Amino acid sequence: MFSKVKESASFIKEKIHDKKPRIGVILGSGLGDFADEVENRIEIPYSEIPHFHATTVIGHVGRVVVGTVSGVEVIIFQGRFHAYEGHSFEDVVLPARVTKLLGATELIVTNAAGGINSLYSPGELVYLTDHINLTSNNPLIGTNDDEFGPRFPDMSEAYSHDLNKIIEKAAKTQGIQVHPGVYAGLRGPSYETPAEIKYLRIIGADMVGMSTVPEVIAANHIGLKVCAISCITNLAAGISTEKLNHDEVKEVANMSMQKFKSLISTSIKFIGENV
Ligand code: HPA
Repeated sequence: MFSKVKESASFIKEKIHDKKPRIGVILGSGLGDFADEVENRIEIPYSEIPHFHATTVIGHVGRVVVGTVSGVEVIIFQGRFHAYEGHSFEDVVLPARVTKLLGATELIVTNAAGGINSLYSPGELVYLTDHINLTSNNPLIGTNDDEFGPRFPDMSEAYSHDLNKIIEKAAKTQGIQVHPGVYAGLRGPSYETPAEIKYLRIIGADMVGMSTVPEVIAANHIGLKVCAISCITNLAAGISTEKLNHDEVKEVANMSMQKFKSLISTSIKFIGENV
């Protein structure tokens, strides 16, 4: 596996010449337009990168964009691989591992999520304080690749307290309301039943989605500092009488785009200042 990730990273390295991304950003459903913020950009379609697959899910473009945001060098993954598309967890976590092999030190993961916590409204942004892995899977299953990290990686601070403080500070300076929250990661692709949402609330989840968990596990394993931001695109099943659909998820994510762009760009700026 290590050599596979190295091949992907070497290909990108050659294409981006002297650029050295400090921060990786994985963009979730309906949030791909954040890539517009990148200056001095080099774009590489996933289809050209060894071991990257073209993404199939609607609302995902499928390319790497390298350049600067707020003067900080970044690598953006516009479109992610989901397990529900049939990708193995090893493929799902390629962007996180490539980020590290390119020399970056932080990873920002983003997603669309259904709100369970009654304090959340659609369109709001939540930074993850923790997650609950309900995918029945783990990207680290199999022989451990010591070149990535240890057999039993610690996950007691999977979401960096320092980065979360930076997100809070960025939100304050931009006048954006953010909440903290625990993310329940399921495999999908069907949305949850109302009974499942009741169960998720009882076990301590504030929101639910179908991504993020595998990438965050692999990123912690490989030694990246991680933070993640969810855009609450809908109230989870059974909380409102509305039926759920992916168009609504994309639409609400898009409506929050200005706020989302401003929060991520400012967080990147502050991370860049934090040597
Ligand atoms: N459930 C799971 N995934 C989601 C949801 C949801 O309600 N909204 C956006 N992604």
